[in-house]
Amino acid sequence: MNPTKPSSVNRDQNLAGQVAIISGGLGDIGSAIAVELAGRGAAVALGDIKPAADARPFLDNLNPTGRRSRYDQVDVTDWQQVGQWVERVESDLGPPTLIIPNAAVVTLVPTCEMSPAQWSRDLRVNLDGAFHLAQAAILRLRAHQRPGRVVFIGSWAAHSPHVHIPAYCASKAALRMLCKTMALELAEFDILVNEVAPGYVDAGLTAAVWRENPQLRVSSLKTVPVGRLISPAEVAFQVAHLCDPANRHMTGTSILMDGGLSLTNAATLRKDER
Ligand SMILES: NC(=O)c1ccc[n+]([C@@H]2O[C@H](COP(=O)([O-])OP(=O)(O)OC[C@H]3O[C@@H](n4cnc5c(N)ncnc54)[C@H](O)[C@@H]3O)[C@@H](O)[C@H]2O)c1
Repeated sequence: MNPTKPSSVNRDQNLAGQVAIISGGLGDIGSAIAVELAGRGAAVALGDIKPAADARPFLDNLNPTGRRSRYDQVDVTDWQQVGQWVERVESDLGPPTLIIPNAAVVTLVPTCEMSPAQWSRDLRVNLDGAFHLAQAAILRLRAHQRPGRVVFIGSWAAHSPHVHIPAYCASKAALRMLCKTMALELAEFDILVNEVAPGYVDAGLTAAVWRENPQLRVSSLKTVPVGRLISPAEVAFQVAHLCDPANRHMTGTSILMDGGLSLTNAATLRKDER
């Protein structure tokens, strides 16, 4: 990072020398973030619960960019595994300076029908998992006295309630506050902590729900004021914006990119209206 001369940054390769670590890196948004950050010159470490064989085709495509990359199978709910993952990344690529907690799951079920196991799973992956990665990587940055960036992948569902995903909404709302508290604690070390909070992305978790119920995709789209769904690449672009060394003042913020969805009362429509 060059804190004194942001105007001198070559934006084509503005992340050269950085090491990005991305959880849920084989998912639709995680892999788009990897492509975006690698394209800007960062080395990229991906972690996901999926087996290493699943990562091979993606890494083979990413590597022609000439950037270093690696994959580790890791369960973000396991604090120890995440710590060991960060250690392996540091030995191979250097200490991660761009930390992207992105792994998440969603359970679509009304609150009164949700089992304790379903509730804990969403909280464990989405909130505990994000904390585990952020904490482990920040400890290494602090040990090296290096600046860095954390970009949590939040959701518009932290900013406005959505029926039938209670644990997901609660996990993302808690993540939002974790982002703010960490931003306050870490500002003096030049570690900036922000979140990107997308609305309906036409991929990943939302697309999986829509595949089960195609009519829901149509009705959901109608509720977005700008009338557009988001692509994973558009989310990745905002993550890269927060990672840009020229962006030196934003911390504790949320880039809410939901096309105005959270401004409406659409999310509180009754079940039979959806
Ligand atoms: N798709 C959307 O509309 C949307 C909207 C707002 C926010 N988001 C957020 O974007 C992020 C990425 O989601 P996506 O839509 O790309 O979904 P996705 O399912 O494509 O990606 C999520 C990835 O997380 C991985 N994962 C799940 N549990 C894990 C665990 N215990 N340990 C490690 N990895 C695990 C999955 O294997 C998957 O590859 C999430 O944080 C999600 O909440 C998505």
